[in-house]
Amino acid sequence: MGNIVQQDLLQQLEQLRQEAEAALTQANSTEATRTWHSEYLGRKGRLTGILRNLGSLPGEERPLVGKVANEVKTELENALQERQTAIAQAELEAARSAENIDVTLPGRPQTLGKLHPTTVTLREIYAIFTAMGFQIFNSPEVETDEYNFQLLNMPPGHPARDMWDTFYTDSPDLLLRTHTSPGQIHAMLAYAPEPVRVILPGKVYRYEQVTARSESMFYQVEGIAVGRNITFSDLKGVLTNFANQMYGEGRQMRFRKSYFPFTEPSVEVDIDCVLCGGKGCPICKYTGWLEILGAGMVHPVVLLHGGYDPVEFSGFAFGMGPERIALLKYGIDDIRYFYSNDVRFLERVG
Ligand code: DAH
Repeated sequence: MGNIVQQDLLQQLEQLRQEAEAALTQANSTEATRTWHSEYLGRKGRLTGILRNLGSLPGEERPLVGKVANEVKTELENALQERQTAIAQAELEAARSAENIDVTLPGRPQTLGKLHPTTVTLREIYAIFTAMGFQIFNSPEVETDEYNFQLLNMPPGHPARDMWDTFYTDSPDLLLRTHTSPGQIHAMLAYAPEPVRVILPGKVYRYEQVTARSESMFYQVEGIAVGRNITFSDLKGVLTNFANQMYGEGRQMRFRKSYFPFTEPSVEVDIDCVLCGGKGCPICKYTGWLEILGAGMVHPVVLLHGGYDPVEFSGFAFGMGPERIALLKYGIDDIRYFYSNDVRFLERVG
């Protein structure tokens, strides 16, 4: 009787093994293998079910059935392991191809930021003048009528004020500076009676029709040097050196007589046209020359306002527009591009 039971159990184990193996080949997902595991090997699974009958066998018959049961269990566990690895691999492959990642595609290019042409030009100007011993001096954009005009030798009613119409604030006499020249006074007052040699960069404002050639806001770089025995030759030397470095060695230069209330004598400085080399073209309006800045010897009245005795001291000053320099350098035909905030402008130039 006992033997029959043993045979029966061994047969059941064999059958279980075969069925389980067959079922495993049908399990096509991680989920299915879990179900398979609990059905055959789990705590309430069929193998456990068979082993529960072990107790009803006579003692000497148990070891064989136990041994076979262990073999079946190990075999099935190994098979399960193998199957799970294969399924995991297949699932990964499926996910990869579903996501459609092509790892051989080149990455997205990162666009690099660029400096604004005005910034580039300003930095070049700083480098040239600091190498000649000029310091950079900051001066306010909001000014008084006194600094923007009066101290620069333009008392109320002076006709030259018409060249510098500006934006006024609600506070009487407080305005946006029309040029960096009031910085001359600030710098002189800061240094007098010691000599001074500075450049003053910054924004200036004009109440003017905005056109391709003129904006209501732009930059200027002012320069001033005051000391003993400073002559017009010093001005010429400094500006010639500047033009050669900024526009290329061997430039033709022309100092044309002009008028500014704060300098005497006053000049406007031209270089031979960078585009046509002086032959004449639309950029230079067929004159062969390009105006690059205004300059002159600091007027005695302005020296006095700056705290210097004009008998003992003399000086020169100049003012230039960095946008104008950039226009020529990058061949930009409209000054409005500079501050219209279109990033394509930055991509095109520089
Ligand atoms: N401030 C003048 C302007 O805005 C430019 C200028 C001319 C500055 C002559 C100077 C100078 O320092 O000496 O048009």
